[in-house]
Amino acid sequence: MATTDKNQQDAEKLAAARAAVKFVKDGDVVGLGTGSTTTFAIIELGKRVKDGLQIKAAASSIRTEELAKSLGIEILDLGRLSEIDISIDGADEFTASLDLIKGGGGALFREKIIASLSKNALIITDASKKVKKLGAFTVPVEVIPLAYQYVFDQINKLGGSGVLRTKDEQAFITDNGNLIIDADFGLIDDPAKLANNLNQINGILAHGLFINLTSKVIMSDGTDIIIFE
Ligand code: A5P
Repeated sequence: MATTDKNQQDAEKLAAARAAVKFVKDGDVVGLGTGSTTTFAIIELGKRVKDGLQIKAAASSIRTEELAKSLGIEILDLGRLSEIDISIDGADEFTASLDLIKGGGGALFREKIIASLSKNALIITDASKKVKKLGAFTVPVEVIPLAYQYVFDQINKLGGSGVLRTKDEQAFITDNGNLIIDADFGLIDDPAKLANNLNQINGILAHGLFINLTSKVIMSDGTDIIIFE
């Protein structure tokens, strides 16, 4: 049963990825997100590049960069870009008003830079990511290691409860050399306010609340492509 669900979810991810990749045009600088849904999009883009599409890309993680390069997609230095024409990324949760939680894969900081630079920031998802209110998925918070306890305590003061993300029983380390606190705030009534509160805390490099950073969410429910904008 679980396998069927995963197959269904993967079919939805692929359908959303294919729909998004159609928006990419010759000459575009393309921002590439991170995660299983974005992987489908990178593979589809790689096929178009093989067929002659001329693009350059910026990657939100080392693993995305490696995949893109392996498919013949030229990668630019994100730190030198003033603008990205179009970006394609996934999300852990989204609402119809285009607020997102991202960072389940730990690439939230670079993903946020890409979304901020992007003239057309596309998010692709399967139907499971659509929620009425954000917050069932915890909010990833990337923290400079020496500010860990301070940030942890500030999250508590905001009414949240944090857990240090681990991998193989060790602290998970991001591509930027930082830690992640997964912060549970319950269902979030006012994501913009919480985002602003987190923005005020020294030592947080980025958090996974993406507010006003999305042009369109392209979701597949297995039958149809539904676009939220
Ligand atoms: C990576 O840091 C995340 O923001 C991903 O975009 C998000 O977790 C969605 O991942 P999946 O496409 O694997 O669900």
